[in-house]
Amino acid sequence: MTQPRILVARAIFPDIAQRLRQHFDVEVNTDDVVWTPAELAARAADKQGVLTTGSERIDAALLAAAPQLRIAANMAVGYNNFDVDAMAAAGVQGTNTPDVLTETTADFGFALLMATARRMAESEHFLRAGLWKKWSYDMFAGGEVHGSTLGIIGMGRIGQGIARRGAHGFGMKVVYHNRSRLSAALEAECKATYVGKEELLATADHVVLVVPYSAASHHTIGAAELALMKPTATLINIARGGIVDDAALAAALREGRIAAAGLDVFEGEPSVHPDLLTVPNVVLTPHIASATVATRRAMATLAADNLIAFFDGRGPLTPVNTPTAQAAAMRALAR
Ligand code: GLV
Repeated sequence: MTQPRILVARAIFPDIAQRLRQHFDVEVNTDDVVWTPAELAARAADKQGVLTTGSERIDAALLAAAPQLRIAANMAVGYNNFDVDAMAAAGVQGTNTPDVLTETTADFGFALLMATARRMAESEHFLRAGLWKKWSYDMFAGGEVHGSTLGIIGMGRIGQGIARRGAHGFGMKVVYHNRSRLSAALEAECKATYVGKEELLATADHVVLVVPYSAASHHTIGAAELALMKPTATLINIARGGIVDDAALAAALREGRIAAAGLDVFEGEPSVHPDLLTVPNVVLTPHIASATVATRRAMATLAADNLIAFFDGRGPLTPVNTPTAQAAAMRALAR
């Protein structure tokens, strides 16, 4: 029996690619170039499965170009690079990598908050530039972290992890806003109080964004929302580019309308809005919130496990959509 053909659309840990080879006929993008949609479509044209990262879009055009494709396993918890409805209608399963990155990503969110509030990047640049000549009473004096108010927009697993760190580790008052309220038990565990978005923006000392990207969450924070924040507040985005209007944020930072921002994700990344590169009061990191060796291995392993379980007939482990049975059956027969 011929093995399913799998495309690994970006480089991954060689031993995990090797494990996939025990189950599948595998093509790996070992050069790790980010393919254009046309290149991806050409590579996927004869494949039954694809392992993607957030850089590869699985949309109607790709689905049409890859008629045998049955599953796309994303090595990310966010899956806004998938058109899940088009995939479901075409009978294509999507999967993601939840849970395995929750605590690591929450660690990073908290690290970025601290670096931003305590001006670590800005002061390091100052030191490296040879500008440090003397101690002074207000040199790089930042905002307090412990005991301050932490506002979390998006209270899924990662948001809850950040809330626990803030409330239990740093004695912070935690307020959150989410599409739906947490259970009373989870609210108690996270010591978090549900508030409206406007109240959160007006009262939080540190606003952390952890919402999934969708058309509805586009520019969750724009000029109007920034105007509601305290001039001493910080804004942290570890969610997705496009959740924040980066141009409006750069203007607010330049004009001191908020104190500082910490950004791990950007609109149009890996391009970064040029104004963000010139304002001093922003900490910029290249989308690395889940980047520990152990967590990236766990993510790649879960993406591989999804492919293996799916083709074994055990079903996807962490599905993000429910493909139409009839369309899925048609794809299983496509040659
Ligand atoms: C990273 O951004 C992810 O969604 O896993």
